[in-house]
Amino acid sequence: MNTYFQDKVAVVTGAGGMICSQVSLDLAALGITVVLVGRTAEKLEKTAAAIREQGGNCAVYTCDVTDEKAIYALADEVYAKFGRVDYLINGAGGNNAKAQPAIVAFDPMELDENRPADFKGLYNIDTEAFESVLRINTMGTFYPTMAFARFMVGKGGSVVNFASMNSYCPLTRNFAYAMSKAAVVNLTQAMAAYFANAGIRINAVAPGFIVNERSKLILGTVEEGLTKRGQDVINHTPMGNFGKAADMSGAVKWLIDDRASGFVTGITVPVDGGFLTLSGV
Ligand SMILES: NC(=O)c1ccc[n+]([C@@H]2O[C@H](COP(=O)([O-])OP(=O)(O)OC[C@H]3O[C@@H](n4cnc5c(N)ncnc54)[C@H](OP(=O)(O)O)[C@@H]3O)[C@@H](O)[C@H]2O)c1
Repeated sequence: MNTYFQDKVAVVTGAGGMICSQVSLDLAALGITVVLVGRTAEKLEKTAAAIREQGGNCAVYTCDVTDEKAIYALADEVYAKFGRVDYLINGAGGNNAKAQPAIVAFDPMELDENRPADFKGLYNIDTEAFESVLRINTMGTFYPTMAFARFMVGKGGSVVNFASMNSYCPLTRNFAYAMSKAAVVNLTQAMAAYFANAGIRINAVAPGFIVNERSKLILGTVEEGLTKRGQDVINHTPMGNFGKAADMSGAVKWLIDDRASGFVTGITVPVDGGFLTLSGV
């Protein structure tokens, strides 16, 4: 049996979510002890139960990754308990419908005080929600990286961030999400350059369209029927389908493994069924 990962510890934020619950499961299957982080204990416990059922090791910690003090305290606690942190997967992130307009192009109605209650242009969005999306995707990546990298300095370590197709070119209505995911690619490069001399590699994956319970409502499924937006995505995806959470694990496993990607840092790997190969025309 290959024991390379046996004593390694990975921290996975967003580990109760659709993609990173699977990533956590797949890392645990390699023998890595996985520290599951998110705000909701029940979601994390579900991932933990699945890991334990397959014989893996894990621990659950609730924490808001945008809370700088809390994430530093968590990192201290994790290091005190496990004595090492080898990998950090910054999977926590997300969007918020309140931050999005309902329309795709400016309409003078959005400046009209007497507009219908359900009319929502860019002037009518909730800007607090907009800022919270920026915060989770950017500071929610920055703070954990800073907090956990302290324990990787000089020992080697690998960080994997989560970008998006929006990082390259914004999807309609996704202003805050796209802006913040573009920032993740840039931050990945900047932090990779900064921490290279500390022996820490920092990369990202950019998932294409992965169906989860929430995005199913927006996209539908190839099997059960697509929404208009879902059909637009599929028309733009040469491989003709949405991705699966497990598709991300392969890229994550490659990026954390020094034997395979030891000279790779600062890149973002699209896992997108070819979405980025087409201009849409
Ligand atoms: N699904 C896709 O198609 C897709 C495409 C491109 C990129 N991505 C990115 O890939 C990552 C994972 O996506 P996903 O689809 O698996 O999303 P998901 O199912 O919504 O999972 C995200 C997880 O992050 C946690 N989280 C959110 N805010 C947090 C905070 N402030 N502190 C700690 N944890 C927080 C959430 O749990 P709590 O609410 O309990 O904290 C949730 O379990 C995200 O960064 C997402 O933006 C996804």
